[in-house]
Amino acid sequence: MTTRDEARRFFDSIAGRYDRVYAPPREETRARMARILTELAPRSRVLDLGVGTGRELSLLLDAGHDVTGLDVSPAMLERCARRSRPVPAVLADLWEPLPFEAQCFDAVLALHGTLAHPPRAEALATLAAEVGRVLVPGGVFALEVPLPGWIEAASAKRGERRPSRIGNARAVVTDDATAASIEAWLFERGVWEEALSGSLRVTDARETANELFLVARR
Ligand SMILES: C[S@@+](CC[C@H](N)C(=O)[O-])C[C@H]1O[C@@H](n2cnc3c(N)ncnc32)[C@H](O)[C@@H]1O
Repeated sequence: MTTRDEARRFFDSIAGRYDRVYAPPREETRARMARILTELAPRSRVLDLGVGTGRELSLLLDAGHDVTGLDVSPAMLERCARRSRPVPAVLADLWEPLPFEAQCFDAVLALHGTLAHPPRAEALATLAAEVGRVLVPGGVFALEVPLPGWIEAASAKRGERRPSRIGNARAVVTDDATAASIEAWLFERGVWEEALSGSLRVTDARETANELFLVARR
């Protein structure tokens, strides 16, 4: 499992190359965001957990939403702040109590592997409870998480990011350029649905070989 310091160290060390090496291509990002935008009410207050370099921001802002970013990595947030339209950004650990008042967001997002580095398995349910607390009634939580098949798919691609399986649902991802590494957990759909269902109602789940897209509502 991954501590806050391990996550910070890894993402700080790759921040300068994240958009080129780790992020999906622009067209794929557009397609992913299109399905998320259909879930959001007009002029939503959106919390983007693991906002990273802010790749998703322009599409959310163009659609008229207000976005707050949260991330554990100062270097990722520093790149996010260089965007032409920076948003309020909070340096915090998403697996800890979220530093926001109850019911202050209409939507919470956690995209592209942000939730793959929990400190312990029970943290998924704790996060769901915290998301439920900061969402208004009827508010939406949309998440993209890698499934176990992601490990082989990502290993097959030649690149600077090298995942190796170390267990049924576990991998170590090593960055070849910096030698930094981080553990990743890749839970099956049922694990996520159970963790969310204590605090939220799952309303959509789409699975590809490598990734799960889930929508849950408060
Ligand atoms: C794979 S990147 C995704 C970034 C962005 N959402 C995107 O789609 O490009 C994961 C992000 O989550 C952040 N992160 C990882 N663990 C975290 C934690 N415990 N608390 C807050 N942010 C975390 C990382 O710093 C990184 O910016």
